[in-house]
This record gives sequence, structure tokens and C-alpha cells, in this order.
Amino acid sequence: MNDYISENKDRFVNELLEMLRIPSVSADAKFKADVLRTAEFVQQKLTEAGANNVELVETAGNPVVYGEKIIDKNLPTVLVYGHYDVQPADPYELWNSPPFEPVIKDGNIYARGACDDKGQMYMHIKAFETMMRTNTLACNVKFMIEGEEEVGSVNLGTFIKENKEKLQGDVILISDTGMLANDTPSITTGLRGLSYVEVEVTGPNRDLHSGLYGGAVANPINILCKMIASLHDENNRITIPGFYDNVEELSQEERAEMARAPFDLDKYKKALDLTDVHGEAGYVTMERNAIRPTLDVNGIWGGYTGEGAKTVIPAQAFAKISMRLVPHQSSEEITEKFKKHFESIAPASVKVVVRPHHGGEPVVTPTDSVAYQAAAKAYEDTFGVKPVPVRSGGSIPIVAMFKSELGLDSVLMGFGLDSDAIHSPNEHFGIFNFMKGIETIPLFYKHYAEMSRKS
Ligand code: BES
Ligand code: MN
Ligand code: MN
Repeated sequence: MNDYISENKDRFVNELLEMLRIPSVSADAKFKADVLRTAEFVQQKLTEAGANNVELVETAGNPVVYGEKIIDKNLPTVLVYGHYDVQPADPYELWNSPPFEPVIKDGNIYARGACDDKGQMYMHIKAFETMMRTNTLACNVKFMIEGEEEVGSVNLGTFIKENKEKLQGDVILISDTGMLANDTPSITTGLRGLSYVEVEVTGPNRDLHSGLYGGAVANPINILCKMIASLHDENNRITIPGFYDNVEELSQEERAEMARAPFDLDKYKKALDLTDVHGEAGYVTMERNAIRPTLDVNGIWGGYTGEGAKTVIPAQAFAKISMRLVPHQSSEEITEKFKKHFESIAPASVKVVVRPHHGGEPVVTPTDSVAYQAAAKAYEDTFGVKPVPVRSGGSIPIVAMFKSELGLDSVLMGFGLDSDAIHSPNEHFGIFNFMKGIETIPLFYKHYAEMSRKS
């Protein structure tokens, strides 16, 4: 098996580069044709690798690529999930090389989607090809690769509900997260949920001269800033009434267990050029970005931002705000609480509209399951050390639905690093990580089949 992987390494990498050249940005309608081309690329590669019944399943949005290889009804079935869409590459000028013209530098592939999630998703297709060619496929496998993850997987829920039979399996396998370091593998055991809203603050019915009117009418940008600032208190806790109501508080034992994962605060600050970190009082960095909920402004605009100065009181101001949620907060409830609170703190001098975007529920995955143990064993085989369980701060909205709709737990076998700059300019993925993924995934299948038989 390892011979096959090393003999085909260059081709595996080149195929990934080919896929990375297609700009499958799901957020922007002008890339619609490229999104489709990417789905077809995945379809073709799955077929070539030996999957059966490979199809593009239409949804109200971008198609889901489905394929399967059922070898024996008595073997467990692994349902692989991934996404072929990517984040927008803006701002382009901050890239050292164009985002959709991948280059290899110092052992890393630089391109939008290199890690999130084209690179990691493609590891599964190449691992599958390897198992097919070397006659080592140990489980049945189904692939479900979607094209709307980066815009909230809004149509995937319907797809799952309508295809429950087809998607039946024993476990969900996903590589769309990270690990601590190349010498410290980890398995993600939790993801945060998400509430995402856009707010609009309107003052006067037109932009005004800031001398003639300044001081006498509300400036929507001033007001918006004040309202946003009031959403955190002096301990950096969120002030929305009821926001923390259902938040799961970890026991001292669980927090002590978390603290055992290696983390170097100085290195963390250095990597980000920070003099100090910031966050909720009473929690350390690793807790703040994983087990605690947050509220962040993702973008804010209004008024004049062009060259030079323009003396104006803008008529409107806007912001996009995300809240990361933890068990057992509900995305819908939090969005509702935000809306109510934000509207209630608006002064009478402005009008406020809150528009909810997509959301997703938080999840925690078990570590005592056969699937988790099999994954841990696979990492140990290829990295030489046991992986650490780590809860992540990111979100993959569909994971909670796999549990609620199909009753299936997910195993989050990520091979990316925080330093891979996903969603940022100069996103990259180590060829080391790509190849490690392709080596580790077949061992998961092997251990999972063996350990399922025993249990
Ligand atoms: N793959 C990421 C999520 C992720 C990355 C989880 C690293 C854990 C570690 C995924 O593609 C993503 O970006 N999700 C979005 C949510 C979505 C609704 C836009 C996110 O977390 O912002
Ligand atoms: Mn992703
Ligand atoms: Mn992403």
C-alpha cells in the first residue's frame, strides 16, 4: 500500500493542483460555472478511483457529488464527507502568488482551498484509489462531497432528509479540521455552532454635510460602534440577556484534561505579532477559542472610505456579526436573542434592522467509540505517537445534522495546521500533511473493520 502511495505521489499532487486551478467560490455567483466544473472533476476522479453509482445530485444550490463502493453487506460502512467549494480569495493583492494558480514552495502547496477543503477532501479520494488498486479496502464506503459548506450548507439538510436510505452507514469520516502540529497529531472532538447576522443602522434620509448637521442628528456609524461596543462587558462577556443560559460548563476535571494538550502562549502571540491575547475573563486561550461562545464583528462599513477626506454624516451604517456557539446553545434561539437585544438598545434617533444569515449547531463527538479508537490507532501507526483529543473553535454545520438526522457520529480526522492560513491570503497545505492523510486514512478503515468485528 505504501509503495503504491509513494510511486503515485507526484500524480496525486498534480491532480490536486489541477482541481485547485478551478475557482469554486460558492459565495459569489460569478463562479457558478467553475463550481460546477469542480463538482464534475470530483465526480470523474471518484469514478476513475473505482467508485460505483457516481452522480451529481442536484439540490436547490450546488450539486452534491455522491459515489459508493459496497463490497460486503457484513462490513461496516464509512460515509465520507467533504466540500469542494472554497472561500472567496479576496483581498487578491495580499497573495504572494495568484490564489487559483497553485505553486509549491518549501514543501507547501499555495492556493485557495489547498487545505480547506480541496486538499483534505482529495486525500480521501486518493486513499480510496490506493485501497482499490492494492485490494485493501476494508469497509464499504460512501462519498458525499458538497459544494456549499462555505456558505452554510443551506441545502444539504434537505439532501440528507431526502436521501436517508442512500446515506445509511455506521460512521461519518471527515477531514476538514486541523491538528496541533506535525509532531503532535490530534483528533478534533468538538466544533462550535454559529449564528450569523447582518445589521443595518439608518439615520437621516440622505448623506448630510457634517458641518451643517453634525452634532444635531445621529451619525449611524457612531451609533453602530457604540451599540457593538456595548455587546461585551468589562470582563469580555457578552451582554445579550440569556446568551449564556444553556452554555455547557465544563468540570474542573475536564478543564484540567484540556490543559494537558500542548500549547505555547508565547509562540501563539509571536505567530500573530501580538503583544497580548484577549478574551473572556477566567478562561485561558485554549478554552476561549473552543469551549466558550463568542461574538465578533466580521465586517463593518458605511460613509466615505475613498481617497482624501469627505465631510459627511452617512445615512447608513452596516455590520456583519458572527456568534460562535457551544453545547447546548441553539443557533435559532441565539439569533432571536441577538435580534431582540440589538433592536432594544437602538436609540430613537436611528432605525435598526437585523437580518439573520445561516447558522449551525455545535457538536461534541465521542472519544470512547470504536471509530474514534480506530482513528487514534491509525494516527499512532503513521505519526508514531498517540493523537490528542482537541475541541476546535471552527464550525461545520452539517456535523450536528448527521447526528440528528442520520443518528451518526462523526470522526474528524484533520491534517491541516492553524498556520495553513485557511480563509486568509496565502492559504497553503503541506505536501507532508497531504501524503500523511493518504497514508493514515486506509489504516482507519482497516482498524475500524477489525475493531467493529470484535465489538
Ligand atoms: N473547515 C472549516 C471549519 C474548520 C476549520 C473547523 C478548521 C475546524 C478547524 C469550514 O470550511 C469552515 O470554514 N466553516 C465555517 C462555517 C461556515 C458556516 C461558513 C466557519 O467555521 O467559519
Ligand atoms: Mn472546510
Ligand atoms: Mn472553510
